[in-house]
Amino acid sequence: MTTTHTRAHARTADVPSSFSGSWPCELESAVYAKRLVRDALTAWGIGQLGADAALVASELAGNAIQHAGCQSFRLSIALLAQRRIRISVSDQGGALPEMLRAPDEESERGRGLLIVAAIADRWGTEVVGPDKTVWTELSTERP
Ligand SMILES: Nc1ncnc2c1ncn2[C@@H]1O[C@H](COP(=O)(O)OP(=O)(O)O)[C@@H](O)[C@H]1O
Ligand SMILES: [Mg+2]
Repeated sequence: MTTTHTRAHARTADVPSSFSGSWPCELESAVYAKRLVRDALTAWGIGQLGADAALVASELAGNAIQHAGCQSFRLSIALLAQRRIRISVSDQGGALPEMLRAPDEESERGRGLLIVAAIADRWGTEVVGPDKTVWTELSTERP
């Protein structure tokens, strides 16, 4: 695993304003991605966002792992201006994420992006060269 961070907008000189890590596209990796998210929120003093942010992280990491056929994926979490955070997951798989508007009632499948859309204030996908990124923004002030 590799992790990086930047200090550009950190609230104090000692706390990075973004963290990222990359892991192999294997089931166990979702746990590490979630841990990075929780650690970042704790470092920023907004651990109360942990449950929602970890759910988003695990759905997006799970999608990269299950659907992208990737070698590795990267999760980044950044503290933005105006009390928001951004969680992004990038992979190099072929297909684009597709939100299923009417998942099969009998099935657990097809709900992940619906959950992400419900939790996030904004979300989207972006393709740059071979990289596909699903990004989400969450307010740090939860209702
Ligand atoms: N990172 C990804 N790479 C490729 N396809 C994806 C990715 N994320 C989502 N998808 C596609 O979008 C669909 C919907 O995702 P989701 O709502 O999480 O449902 P589920 O993962 O249960 O199938 C997936 O079934 C898959 O076809
Ligand atoms: Mg999913």
